[in-house]
Amino acid sequence: QADQYILGIETSCDETAAAIIKNGREIVSNVVASQIESHKRFGGVVPEIASRHHVEQLTVVFDEAMKQANLDFKDLSAIAVTEGPGLVGALLTGINAAKALAFSQGLPLIGVHHIAGHIYANRLITEMHFPLLALVVSGGHTELVYMKEHASFEVIGETLDDAAGEAYDKVARTLGLPYPGGPHIDRLAHEGQASIDLPRAWLSEGSFDFSFSGLKSAVINTLHNAKQKGIELEAKDIAASFQASVIDVLVTKTAQAVDKYQVKQLLVAGGVAANKGLRTALENEFGKRDGFELVIPPLSLCTDNAAMIAAAGSILYEKGVRSNLALNANPGLEL
Ligand code: KG4
Ligand code: ZN
Repeated sequence: QADQYILGIETSCDETAAAIIKNGREIVSNVVASQIESHKRFGGVVPEIASRHHVEQLTVVFDEAMKQANLDFKDLSAIAVTEGPGLVGALLTGINAAKALAFSQGLPLIGVHHIAGHIYANRLITEMHFPLLALVVSGGHTELVYMKEHASFEVIGETLDDAAGEAYDKVARTLGLPYPGGPHIDRLAHEGQASIDLPRAWLSEGSFDFSFSGLKSAVINTLHNAKQKGIELEAKDIAASFQASVIDVLVTKTAQAVDKYQVKQLLVAGGVAANKGLRTALENEFGKRDGFELVIPPLSLCTDNAAMIAAAGSILYEKGVRSNLALNANPGLEL
């Protein structure tokens, strides 16, 4: 049987990405063009600028992905593209490119959920063992997802307000740090002490939902009150205290979910999974459990990329899932 090659395309936010995955698990090429420099001066992603950059970069990353893979169109099995959630204009650029390629080359088209992609980044590192739990922590999402089999996603908890990455970015902005703030807070946190008392939103007993907007407000209020009293707070101590609160809630709730759902594998996904403090805390909690596998992808597969979209697309392809040329961007797509 011929090898399966899936081309993945991702343009949901501020990375333009194309990748080719062989037989569902092997990265043949993985190209990402980041727009961070263009959005930095605005302190966040500007949707219109994102769309324009995607249009400029799509053919560049696509050509590069095909060149690195040394493949022809006829070698491809299908084209997988992020259909949502994300910025509508940004999504549309990738979807239209994917449709044009699929139509002109007579290839199957497969719409992929961005978060399914983040989760399937883990399959590029290890085999998935069901049932499993995935902790998804990105700029737009914070979710605990239970999977009893491939392509089956049950969201058992999610954020009621801000996503973890969003909270990082907002707190970073308050501290005058550049966008995206996550990595800066992470770095500062390691230099500081978690000496400032900040809240942890446990919500109701047994709930796997999250809430980070109260924590963000608490940081702002703490800074404000300190200033009024003429007290100098160090940014590194705020960063450390904020990070301690986020990690405490994420790891504690994940551990409770692992116990309740009796899973033997925990996958971690999304940009915040790049956080060194979170990685260490997860390793301390789950690393030494007997017969348990904790999987945290390398940084390049945690943040947005197209390899993860192709990896998820591969499973959908095997399941016979196909999209037609009416595929549209769905900014609020549910998992
Ligand atoms: O998954 P991702 O690349 O894009 C979305 O789908 O949202 O996640 C981006 C988010 C940003 O909020 C960024 O600040 C955060 O991931 N992030 C981090 C770190 N690296 C990236 N947050 C905390 N610590 C980090 N080291
Ligand atoms: Zn993402």
